[in-house]
Amino acid sequence: MLKKILACSVVSFFIFCGVASLANAAADPGPADIKMVSEKSKKPKVALFPHKAHQDKFKCGDCHHGMADGKKVDYVDGQEIGKCESCHNKDKLAGKLKGKLKLDTIKGAGHGNCLACHKEMAKKDPALKEKKIDKCAACHPKKKK
Ligand code: HEC
Ligand code: HEC
Ligand code: HEC
Ligand code: HEC
Repeated sequence: MLKKILACSVVSFFIFCGVASLANAAADPGPADIKMVSEKSKKPKVALFPHKAHQDKFKCGDCHHGMADGKKVDYVDGQEIGKCESCHNKDKLAGKLKGKLKLDTIKGAGHGNCLACHKEMAKKDPALKEKKIDKCAACHPKKKK
């Protein structure tokens, strides 16, 4: 009897863990906290990004997307996720604009996504305005003296 229970729990262990690791492989959540900085910029500026805190509030597809034939394609579950700058650079998106934003720079990608949402949210919610999430220092820490 005991043997049977043990054998069963060993089997279910493999089934559950197998399924769990497959699910993980489908949507690797990435790091909880990210320090973003351009590899290509001559004047790099650090942006701090609490990734996990944003994942708790927003959908992956609010920020991540893919590309086909030079055009943006919407995020699909389990897709490969690359660094923003792997596409938002002068080789891949030369001359692309969104309004005044240059999408062939990391600044264009960062501000078009991060800053745009922060401004919109601060406009809607006085508490977030109070927290100054729409100001530069919300993401770019002031240099240490
Ligand atoms: C609010 C925006 C936002 C949301 C929501 C978000 N991410 Fe991200 N994620 C980012 C940014 C920005 C990076 C950093 C990219 C970089 O370094 O260029 C990142 C990085 C990652 C990375 C690491 C990529 C690498 O190569 O370094 C993975 C994996 C990832 N995200 C998965 C997810 C998944 C899965 C979800 C949904 C559960 C999600 N993210 C939700 C913005 C977001
Ligand atoms: C696989 C390539 C690829 C990656 C990786 C990528 N982008 Fe994009 N992104 C594009 C393409 C292509 C467009 C559309 C450009 C055009 O035609 O105007 C785009 C457009 C945008 C726009 C313009 C507004 C819009 O929604 O069309 C923003 C903002 C943006 N990306 C931010 C980001 C951020 C932030 C990241 C990293 C989390 C990121 N992108 C990662 C390819 C990519
Ligand atoms: C879809 C909307 C949205 C996007 C996109 C987004 N954020 Fe945010 N972010 C928020 C909101 C809302 C908060 C405030 C959460 C709170 O305090 O309740 C926040 C908080 C933060 C904070 C903490 C600020 C503080 O003073 O507490 C940082 C840092 C931050 N975001 C950086 C970024 C960066 C960098 C990106 C892009 C890589 C980004 N965010 C993209 C909505 C967004
Ligand atoms: C919501 C977050 C957020 C806010 C607020 C924000 N930025 Fe950014 N900014 C980013 C991200 C993300 C990047 C791209 C990653 C990087 O280069 O640090 C970026 C990039 C930049 C760059 C390009 C740096 C480089 O390496 O090429 C400059 C310059 C910059 N920001 C200035 C500003 C200024 C000035 C303000 C205030 C008006 C501001 N940012 C507000 C998120 C933000």
